[in-house]
This record gives sequence, C-alpha cells and structure tokens, in this order.
Amino acid sequence: MSQSHPRISKAVIPAAGLGTRFLPATKATPKEMLPVVDKPAIQYVVEEAVAAGLDDVLMVTGRNKRPLEDHFDRNYELESALEKKGDGERLAKVQESSDLATMHYVRQGDPKGLGHAVLCAAPHVGDEPFAVLLGDDLIDPRDPLLQRMIEVQQEHGGSVVALMEVAPEQIHLYGSAAVEATEDADVVRLSGLVEKPSREEAPSHYAIIGRYVLDPAVFDVLSKTEPGRGGEIQLTDALQQLAADATLGGPVHGVIFQGRRYDTGDRGDYLRAIVRLACEREDLGPDFRTWLQRFVTEEMQQR
Ligand code: UTP
Repeated sequence: MSQSHPRISKAVIPAAGLGTRFLPATKATPKEMLPVVDKPAIQYVVEEAVAAGLDDVLMVTGRNKRPLEDHFDRNYELESALEKKGDGERLAKVQESSDLATMHYVRQGDPKGLGHAVLCAAPHVGDEPFAVLLGDDLIDPRDPLLQRMIEVQQEHGGSVVALMEVAPEQIHLYGSAAVEATEDADVVRLSGLVEKPSREEAPSHYAIIGRYVLDPAVFDVLSKTEPGRGGEIQLTDALQQLAADATLGGPVHGVIFQGRRYDTGDRGDYLRAIVRLACEREDLGPDFRTWLQRFVTEEMQQR
C-alpha cells in the first residue's frame, strides 16, 4: 500500500432526503430511523463506518431529523430507569449507540439533492479524502466493502465508488458506470457515468451503490454543478466530471461488490432485510425461521 495518500478518518452520512417512498411512515420520522429488526437502519451504517476505522462521523440532516441526533446521544432518563431495574442488558443496548463514534451534525436547509448534501460537509471535512455512506443503504456486516474501498483509494489516490452488477431492467434506478479493467479483478477504472439511464443508454450493468471514498476536489466540482435530474444537484454529475478529467482530483476507481446489500429506502428491500437479518439472529432466528417455514408452506398451498 502506498503511504503517499493522506489517511482517511472521516465519514459523511447524508440523511436529509424526504423519504417519499416510505410515506406515511416518514411523515414525522426520518426513514433512516425505521427499525431493521430492533436497531434503526442508520445504526448499522454508523457501525459499518466505525468497523472500517472511521470514528469521526458527520451526519447531514434535514427536517424531522431530531430523532437521529437523539439516537446517538445519551438518554439519562432511560438509562437511570434501566439501572434502577437492574436491567444491565438493555442498558448496554441503550448506551451502545451513544458510545459508537464522535458524531457531528450539519443541516441541509433544503433537500436539494445528494450532491448538495455532500457539499454541506465541506467545512467539516476540509482538504482530505473522506468516505460517504448513504444512510438508507445497508451493507451486510459480514461482507465488508468500505475497508476494501479505502485500501484502493490509498493505493491509487483520487476517488473510489462502489459498484454492483444489476439486471439490465434495473439499471434505470441507478447511476451506471463506463469501466475499464485493472489488474485487480474486483477493481475497475471509471471513464464515465450516467445517472439513471435507460437500458439502451447504460454504458454497463455496473450500478453505483451508496458507498464512496472521495477526493476533496469533489467539493469544488459540486459547487459548480448545476441542478440536474429532478432539479437536484446530483453527486453522479460531479463524479462524471472527476472521471472524465483526472487532473481535477485524480482518477475514479470502482470496487465491484458481490455481497449482500439492502436499500432500506425501498419497501420491498426493507422487508427482505428484516427477514434475512432476523433469520440469522441467534436470539430470534430459531423461532422466527420455524414460523417463516410454516408460513411459506401454508402460503404455497393456498396458491
Ligand atoms: P434518495 O434518492 O433515496 O431520496 O436519497 P430520498 O428523498 O431520501 O427518498 P425518496 O426517494 O423520496 O423515498 C439517497 C440518499 O441521499 C440522501 C438521502 O437521505 C439518502 O440517504 N439525500 C437525498 C440527502 O441527504 N439530501 C437530499 O437532498 C437528497
């Protein structure tokens, strides 16, 4: 690994979107606070950042985001009630989230897009590479991705995105990358990017998913990026510029991810995440799997 690139220690988690796909649940609650089994989705994401060695976390929040801040803060009333009851197990669960990382918050006044949310992080991040983890994208903790992306960034400099191969009929939901192979089978170099292309326009089946390691040059590019699709400032548009011109902020590489990932902002994926993670839990799994098996058998018989 080259030592010439500055160490990465900061993670930015944009969580200021409106979450319209989950209304009415997200009318007064951020979608990142929806529970996946018994932890809010956002806690898995912060745990992932910490597991990758990033213990300085900046969350970009918007309206209704108070619960996010409260979740990662101490709750003395609840803690003392549990202490009085002698319930050490639940007390540890309450304290887990407030002890995880050094949390910082910045408000994105208007939800003007993911690119704009990332730009809000500029004063905190300064002039060093940093990671971005989307608050509603859940990567299974057993399939580490961010560590590998950081390794690739330290080797090549510039920026690194996470790519996942998707079916051609799914590509219009993502940003799609034009790629060239490198000597590492799981790493490609990006020559271009298209946000939510039609099946015909897509340069490849590689879709960008919600993990990034970015060179700080992205801030300068974002500050000059005009609103794109949906009137929002798109991170993909800025990455496209970085990929097309390596003099701006170094090359853009992609790490191809083949593990388990859930888009918890999508209702179907959210349900799948809960079922899968619940099945694998030591405490809940055995009973839940037995029930699920019976449920599926009965469902099949009725069809
Ligand atoms: P999404 O595309 O999922 O948008 O944002 P959304 O508004 O959150 O949800 P829907 O589509 O209306 O249901 C991707 C990520 O970017 C963040 C979101 O919080 C999410 O983590 N984001 C998006 C912002 O932080 N600010 C924005 O202005 C837009």
